[in-house]
Amino acid sequence: MYICVCKAVTDRQIKQAASEGACSLRDLTRELGLGTGCGKCVPAAREVLGACLMSQ
Ligand code: FES
Repeated sequence: MYICVCKAVTDRQIKQAASEGACSLRDLTRELGLGTGCGKCVPAAREVLGACLMSQ
């Protein structure tokens, strides 16, 4: 499922990034470009990342 439509970033990519050490929204932005378009995905991305980090 796309979380960031502007940059075509999926929840799977966020989970992958989290498993490789991304632990903040800034990491996701740097690695995937997420949130650099309209910014609407930021709350959803934060939620997915938070859930990933909790389950690690
Ligand atoms: Fe992510 Fe627009 S949906 S920046």
